[in-house]
Amino acid sequence: MKFKKNFIGTIKKMIIFLTVFTVSSLSIVYAQYAQTNDSLRSIAERLTAKGREFYIGCAVPSSFSGGDQTIVRTEFNIVTCENDMKIGTISPNRGQYNYGGGDSLVNFAQSNNMVFHGHCFIWHKYLPGWVDGTKSTMDTYIANVGAHFRGKIYVWDVINEAIQRDGSFRINAIGSGGQDGGSIWAQRQGVKYLEDALRDAHQADPNAKLMYNDYAIETNDAKFNGMFAMLQDFVSRGVPIDAVGFQGHLYPEFSQADANGLAAKMQRIADLGLEIYITEVDGGAPDTSASGLQHQADIYYWLMKACLAQPMCRAVQVWGIRDSQSWRNNPEDPVDKAYAPLIFNDSGGKKPAYYAIQQAMLEALNATEPSPSPSPQPSSLGDVNNNGVVDITDALLISQYYVGLIPSVFNAANADVNNDGAINIIDALLIARYYVGLIPGF
Ligand code: G3I
Repeated sequence: MKFKKNFIGTIKKMIIFLTVFTVSSLSIVYAQYAQTNDSLRSIAERLTAKGREFYIGCAVPSSFSGGDQTIVRTEFNIVTCENDMKIGTISPNRGQYNYGGGDSLVNFAQSNNMVFHGHCFIWHKYLPGWVDGTKSTMDTYIANVGAHFRGKIYVWDVINEAIQRDGSFRINAIGSGGQDGGSIWAQRQGVKYLEDALRDAHQADPNAKLMYNDYAIETNDAKFNGMFAMLQDFVSRGVPIDAVGFQGHLYPEFSQADANGLAAKMQRIADLGLEIYITEVDGGAPDTSASGLQHQADIYYWLMKACLAQPMCRAVQVWGIRDSQSWRNNPEDPVDKAYAPLIFNDSGGKKPAYYAIQQAMLEALNATEPSPSPSPQPSSLGDVNNNGVVDITDALLISQYYVGLIPSVFNAANADVNNDGAINIIDALLIARYYVGLIPGF
């Protein structure tokens, strides 16, 4: 009897212990990302105002609902067309240009003070049957579409997905599955089409930033290295390119170590002088349970932290608003299937992944010092004694230096007024001529 009582008591204690343990561990999980009322957009704008230029954004179809429009204008300040600016939408027939969808989204962005990300000029997919892959087709298409949107696009995806997963150029199909398909552009023109497309885009819209955009470069080293060699070559030869887009279609296996690897890859891009955009993020959850969504939130958090730690990483964009809208619900290739990959649920509610982004951005905001007020300009060209005026004393100082009477001028940076690489009597004469009003400046 006594034994039975003790046994029941032990069981009761175990139940209490397990209940307390479960509740407390759940509360630890859910407390991981603080929830504030700051919209993502407002944090991005405050970061940019502090001198850390950063955009947060999304892709939407031009047919997006009123509810989605509210989400987009509240939460984001960069937007892209999911499909409305692809050649298959704009130009289903040769010579036809349907700009309606693209125009309406560009107008939406402009009227809500957002910047626009154009997607995309040249891709091996979504091609209407008339596209023959020739240079003249490519040149004409980019010239016309680029001119139509000229001045309204902040950054254009000029080339999308031109490298295969083994790091080679996408020319003929390799392996199995749609993502390893060939490119009619490369087949007809050779890989020179890549730089020609960038030159076409620069000509069509000289002020737009030009981007190379691809998937799996976050984690696939061979693919990243193939892309990197191409970019290095472009930069060294002055081919117009400004940015790299890491699409960010992530899987539940994406880890903190992968995020560290991504950070190292971003640094290599930054070292080339190129900006980085994370363009199409949808991080699949392992499942839709609470812990699955929490795990997904971690993936978003690691990704955000990597981007925000890299000064050249300028934006993160999610590829859609609500889970139900994601292409990953019904991908062409089953390997792309993902559970609930976005940051709003089917009803438009904020998921843990939303709060993970919010927290990463708030942490970056708190860690960013306000940009220093502009320091007083050093004295201007010609003012070699730094006294705030350009006068005959500056000309005399240069003359004295030139004939060896003084070992140096005070401010050599201001002395070479004709910018010929030498400080000599010509600079002194120019300053004298400026002083007596014979020339307006240097
Ligand atoms: O609009 C038609 C509709 O009229 C028709 O009834 C229906 C029947 O299938 O198709 C609709 O078009 C679909 C379109 O999405 C709009 O929903 C196309 O079939 C479908 O192929 C298209 O898929 C898009 C895919 O690119 C191909 O363009 C996805 O929405 C879009 O999310 C996806 O985005 C790509 C990026 O551009 C590049 N990176 C990878 C990313 C995911 O694949």
